[in-house]
Amino acid sequence: MLAQFASACGVVTFEFENVPAATFRMIARHSPVRPCARTAEVAQDRIAEKRFLTSLGLPIAPHATLECEEDLVAAAAFLASAGRAILKRARNGYDGKGQSRVASAELEESYKAFGCPCVLEAILPFKTEISVIAVREASGAMQFYDCPENNHAGGILRSSEVPAPISPELQSAAQSITERIAAALGYVGVLGVELFVMPEDDAVPLRVNEIAPRVHNSGHWTLDACIISQFENHIRAVAGWPLGSTNRHSDATMTNLLGDDVRAWRDILQNDPSASLYLYGKSSIRAGRKLGHVTRIQPRKKK
Ligand SMILES: Nc1ncnc2c1ncn2[C@@H]1O[C@H](COP(=O)(O)OP(=O)(O)O)[C@@H](O)[C@H]1O
Ligand SMILES: [Mg+2]
Repeated sequence: MLAQFASACGVVTFEFENVPAATFRMIARHSPVRPCARTAEVAQDRIAEKRFLTSLGLPIAPHATLECEEDLVAAAAFLASAGRAILKRARNGYDGKGQSRVASAELEESYKAFGCPCVLEAILPFKTEISVIAVREASGAMQFYDCPENNHAGGILRSSEVPAPISPELQSAAQSITERIAAALGYVGVLGVELFVMPEDDAVPLRVNEIAPRVHNSGHWTLDACIISQFENHIRAVAGWPLGSTNRHSDATMTNLLGDDVRAWRDILQNDPSASLYLYGKSSIRAGRKLGHVTRIQPRKKK
């Protein structure tokens, strides 16, 4: 989808996660590169990401960083006080991969099994998860899609539902956090920011989970429920074209087809004429692999 829009605008796309920040810098001497090298540095490495978010004064999960074996002592003390925590590889983790929930006795072994820098995050008793899908032009002007609520199982996004069951104030707060992140990065394009919504009695209503410098899985419903989708707006922003409306004309639920789920594509269409099906054409089925998604829209309920 993205590639179709991109070629129409003369934009060359590449797999962001696999390109080192130094390569972004080199290419930037010859051509505009969006997102920029600074974004790659921050978003490809959870330790850099935590430092960046902390430098902006944004709320994140309490955590310890593990960059070498000597850091195990402080991390063990952190874990003892946090009670439960998730060890995450600093780089190359996605869809819950490169993460494991650890108790004190398992920390050293799990860290050594990963064999790379990691962050150790307190497990947050969040109420729900939401994301902000935003688009920023080179001029700095930003637009936002309504926040979806995101349901994960085993660290993988199962479904996203919009509107999220949050107040307009909380949605605005999530959007201003995103605005600060995007401005600090000098970001151009669609940006996803994943957030934890904390229980009402928590003094901190939102905590940033992670930054996704791209069109985001939790924004796929924009293809069916918005005037202009996240895909088209991403390419418009990157190409310097005027942005399209992010307005949402329908409520929507987007369900990922993971692994064997995809085999049921024909039944999904047969049983529900209102379902929109997207198959990604990947060559093999593996458990938990994102192979497609289904979006169901409904007339917008008045709020
Ligand atoms: N600190 C945490 N506390 C509770 N749940 C978490 C925490 N970190 C991650 N998770 C759960 O795991 C999911 C995937 O983690 P995330 O850090 O977003 O990694 P990924 O890059 O795999 O998406 C989150 O969406 C959330 O459901
Ligand atoms: Mg995530």
